[in-house]
Amino acid sequence: MTTLAIDIRNAEPRDAAAIADVHHDAWAGAYAGIIPHKALNAMINRRGRDWWANAIRRAATIIVIEVGGKVCGYATLGRNRARGLKQQGEIYELYLRPECQGIGLGTRLFAEARRRLSTHGLRGLVVWALEDNDNALAFYAGAGGRDVAEGVEVFDQRALRKVAFVWE
Ligand SMILES: CC(C)(COP(=O)(O)OP(=O)(O)OC[C@H]1O[C@@H](n2cnc3c(N)ncnc32)[C@H](O)[C@@H]1OP(=O)(O)O)[C@@H](O)C(=O)NCCC(=O)NCCS
Repeated sequence: MTTLAIDIRNAEPRDAAAIADVHHDAWAGAYAGIIPHKALNAMINRRGRDWWANAIRRAATIIVIEVGGKVCGYATLGRNRARGLKQQGEIYELYLRPECQGIGLGTRLFAEARRRLSTHGLRGLVVWALEDNDNALAFYAGAGGRDVAEGVEVFDQRALRKVAFVWE
């Protein structure tokens, strides 16, 4: 049996292509049939390798989870953007390659993102997920999140509901 090392670390410029790839596959897998096709394609294509390289350089907090040296997923985190919610931290995105899902890596990445927000002195945490994204809703509820608020996101004139999960 082969044992693969799992590592969670800050993203570096050399990860840009791998993150763009994770983003592409994870978004296509999670949102096909939920977000209208054209809008989804545009969102995916906008975030190519150069976009990610720039985001990493601008010091947005991006972390990656690597298994056996391969980037399997990423998370982005920072200050909560929703004024109506008192939690100070937010995980903006958390995505794994489809072939890396369902084996506990999301749980590890989430725990590390949460730990980092709290290390930065941000108390409490918010995550938004589209209401139609059943896997994400099950994941965040299973991780102990309370769904406390709803919002709407519009994609190509189609309004989709989103749910905010919070942790104190
Ligand atoms: C959602 C996501 C981050 C979860 O990470 P993961 O590594 O697959 O999840 P884990 O293996 O750590 O599983 C933890 C729990 O999540 C839930 N879960 C995970 N995958 C699931 C699935 N496919 N269907 C239903 N529940 C699921 C289960 O409750 C699981 O608990 P269990 O281990 O007791 O069964 C990951 O599947 C993913 O990136 N999905 C696509 C993108 C996405 O939706 N991201 C979130 C956007 S807000």
